[in-house]
Amino acid sequence: MTTIERPAAPDSPAADGSPTAAGSGSAATAAFAGHRFTADTSPERLSAIASEAFAGFSALIDKHEITYDEYRVLKQWLIDVGEGGEWPLLLDVFVEHDIEEVNSRKYQGTKGSIEGPYYLPDSPLLPARCTLPMRSVDARETPFVMHGQVTDLDGSPMAGATIEIWHADAEGYYSGFAPHLPAWNLRGTVVTDGQGRYEITTIQPAPYQIPTDGPTGKFIETAGWHPWRPAHLHLRVSAKGRHPIVTQLYFAGGDWLDSDVASATKPELLLDPKPDEDGRNVVQYDFALDPE
Ligand code: DHB
Ligand code: FE
Repeated sequence: MTTIERPAAPDSPAADGSPTAAGSGSAATAAFAGHRFTADTSPERLSAIASEAFAGFSALIDKHEITYDEYRVLKQWLIDVGEGGEWPLLLDVFVEHDIEEVNSRKYQGTKGSIEGPYYLPDSPLLPARCTLPMRSVDARETPFVMHGQVTDLDGSPMAGATIEIWHADAEGYYSGFAPHLPAWNLRGTVVTDGQGRYEITTIQPAPYQIPTDGPTGKFIETAGWHPWRPAHLHLRVSAKGRHPIVTQLYFAGGDWLDSDVASATKPELLLDPKPDEDGRNVVQYDFALDPE
């Protein structure tokens, strides 16, 4: 029998007072809902897409002979997803990778990947050689240094390009979405130097588990799937007159690379850092940006 357990209220801290991952999900909803988006979709296009979506549901219901009990569990669970503020999380995990793939087909530069629910614009500006803001507890993790150059497709350097970077701490929390973290922890907007070069020091991220305490996590558990994403860095690289790229970088040999719950890895986005004499893991990665 399948019952998807009703999760605890999202913004209440866990009984021991620690932050909850579901709290991060509802913070992501609040951030997203603060802005109204528009798309220039014609009524005909909307109608075609919606009809095909419902036809897809019809075919599924018919093929699996979906029962009334299953239909009611689905309805209940969708209500939980909304009340738990997990629509951004659910959609970014299970849908965004296809949207990204389709929309990046015409570009030749650095590969993109999903943005996910935890991007924040306007992070603090940092010079080309910098260390991301972090707490002393973060600084105990293995130091990680990424350096390289931002160019156009012909290899001409892009001076003054910006590399927005954000990643989770060792516990999987993103600043701005978890109240116990200082603002802008492990985030920054790095400006490349006159040769388009940069060198960012941060800490090596750990694999990330999408919240297991909310409705998305309950569903994943009930279906017998796993909630893990491989360790990753998020980046948004922009330069004047160039198409900005939103991407993620992963670590060769790490766990969950072949079974990312968000299906967002690509072979071109694998880093293979090597330790230097100071024990810092160091890697070069260059970004090539398409024209606008
Ligand atoms: C989710 C979180 C991430 O950090 C990410 O990169 C993609 C998806 C999520 O929880 O939905
Ligand atoms: Fe992420």
